Amino acid sequence: MSLNTVHLIGIGGYLPDRILTNKDLEKMIDTTDDWIKERTGIEERHIIAEDQVTSDLAVAAAQQALDDAGVSIDDIDALVVATTTPDMIFPSTATVVQSKLGGKDFPAWDIQAVCSGFVYGLAQVDGMMRSGMFKRVLLIGAESMSRIVDWQDRGTCILFGDGAGAVVLETSDASQANGIIGSVLHADGSYRDLLKAEHVRRPAGPDARLLAADFSLDSAGAAAVEMKGNEVFRVAVTKLGSVVNEILAKYELTDSDIDWLVPHQANIRIIQATAKKLKMDMDRVALTVASHGNTSSASVPLALNELYRSGRLEKGQLILLEAFAGGFAWGANLLRWSK
Ligand code: COA
Repeated sequence: MSLNTVHLIGIGGYLPDRILTNKDLEKMIDTTDDWIKERTGIEERHIIAEDQVTSDLAVAAAQQALDDAGVSIDDIDALVVATTTPDMIFPSTATVVQSKLGGKDFPAWDIQAVCSGFVYGLAQVDGMMRSGMFKRVLLIGAESMSRIVDWQDRGTCILFGDGAGAVVLETSDASQANGIIGSVLHADGSYRDLLKAEHVRRPAGPDARLLAADFSLDSAGAAAVEMKGNEVFRVAVTKLGSVVNEILAKYELTDSDIDWLVPHQANIRIIQATAKKLKMDMDRVALTVASHGNTSSASVPLALNELYRSGRLEKGQLILLEAFAGGFAWGANLLRWSK
């Protein structure tokens, strides 16, 4: 059986209108703009509107990606949403997005790997498409993290933001150069207590609408992200350093071959450590952390979208995507830009 090559043919992003700055946070918790900027690189983040849910963010990003690709929802064979903050426990947010976009019949499902959701999703979809299962797939990372952080916990609430990023992927025959080269994925559940979100008041599961109703920005958080920040930081730097080396070795490439690093946007210091490991200047790194914060599974496609829209990507350039997440779950993808 001959394998296909998978190309990214469209990309889009969406950020809700409301912006929460570090100065705004100074009025809510015991923190300062300087502390947040120095320790994380974050200056502001977008916050979902009260009448929005994760699927609304996903739909807006997906529509932009479809338009960018010049295709419609009727041309899509499968739809995957990576999210930690689904609209409901079930049905999947992907089926909600499919319906809101006017799609029918093709398969749609969610993937949950927290901040690594998009990197995991790209690996999964690439494998399915290569084997000929689908011709054109819509892959989205969408999150409303503001609904699951405890807005009284200064160690975590400063980090997260809301948004969505989406890509349209298409197969062509394997003789085509460029496209997705491959991926590596890892998880180690023995770290699961270092970064997690549990419903402490109501065992409701991940239902963002319940959270929206009960736990607005102004109330004490109840379904809360809990994190041992400095331990997460230490493991993230180590695992990301090794996963970028691993993926380059796997595909017989070296750090000097990489044109762009598109990292998960958790903390500028983690990003700088990975760039240093790859001997890359920071001007070759897609950075959105200052204005988006950590948008979990949306952060990698949003950063790629901003890089694309800045006009700096050129056909044939080698791009390394990477992410690290609760679980811990982490991974990386390599692709040659083909748009
Ligand atoms: N404002 C001011 N001070 C704060 C603060 C805030 N928002 N949050 C924590 N502090 C304080 C702590 O209470 C602590 O004070 P103490 O020394 O008096 O006890 C001090 O700052 C240092 O805390 P620490 O947690 O050790 O800081 P840090 O340098 O590790 O930075 C994070 C904290 C969260 C920014 C950092 O650990 C981090 O980014 N970790 C990784 C997070 C991440 O990437 N998560 C997602 C992975 S997908």
